[in-house]
Amino acid sequence: MEIVIVPSPEDGGRIAADIVCGAIENGARTLGLATGSSPLHTYRELIKRHRESGVSFAAMSAYLLDEYVGLTPDQPQSYAHTIRTELVDHLDIDNARVFSPDGGAADPSEAARRYDAAIAENGPIDVQILGIGLNGHIGFNEPSSSLASRTRVKTLTERTRADNARFFADPADVPHHVITQGLGTISDARHLVLIADGARKAPAVRAAVEGPVSAFCPASVLQLHPHVTVIVDEAAAGELQLADFYRYTAEHKPAAQGY
Ligand code: F6R
Repeated sequence: MEIVIVPSPEDGGRIAADIVCGAIENGARTLGLATGSSPLHTYRELIKRHRESGVSFAAMSAYLLDEYVGLTPDQPQSYAHTIRTELVDHLDIDNARVFSPDGGAADPSEAARRYDAAIAENGPIDVQILGIGLNGHIGFNEPSSSLASRTRVKTLTERTRADNARFFADPADVPHHVITQGLGTISDARHLVLIADGARKAPAVRAAVEGPVSAFCPASVLQLHPHVTVIVDEAAAGELQLADFYRYTAEHKPAAQGY
């Protein structure tokens, strides 16, 4: 696991964009996308590089991590809609190859199984972008999620519902259920890139990176993956015991070694 401490979230976005663009140059064809605030600087940077430097996403497919049960892609709060307006509409990626769990399905559990099977068939995902919840969730794998879980229906904690209420007119409108890639599904990706900023995320980042591997902190599953980059600003790194060591390794990184 490489932990990169950056001065600002904008710097983090540039590094994550370097990773995505470098992977595309090396033949990556499948991206994994998170929604929420954490990846927004990365997405803005990717849009900028597409516009100004001609980076093309035309050959790419993308899979979202999760979707609210009961919301369809035409509803603005759905993650399918959000990713379109924040990223997909501004790139040359074909929207028909941007996939998300079917939140409007009559049988969400069956939709979850289909989604997992589609990722297994068309994957592996080359670069998976991740945010982290205040309780250590990735995707919507809340504490107690099996570290081997596959895509399935999960119940959100009240804390996560409250954290996400900012996107809804009324906090009561935040769905209770989601379809989320499981921790095992996420772990199938080749390169996991977790982005976090702000002091509120510091305890979750510390638990994920330096705590025990445990379903209590679902993001701790990253410790079992062979290729992980964690990009945190100074505030989100604020509780890391080995922060100086992570800075030292970044400064003394062999020149040829990428992320
Ligand atoms: C959303 C997702 C979630 C978020 C997490 C952090 O697709 O996967 O795990 O990444 O809830 O959300 P923000 O970035 O809004 O703080």
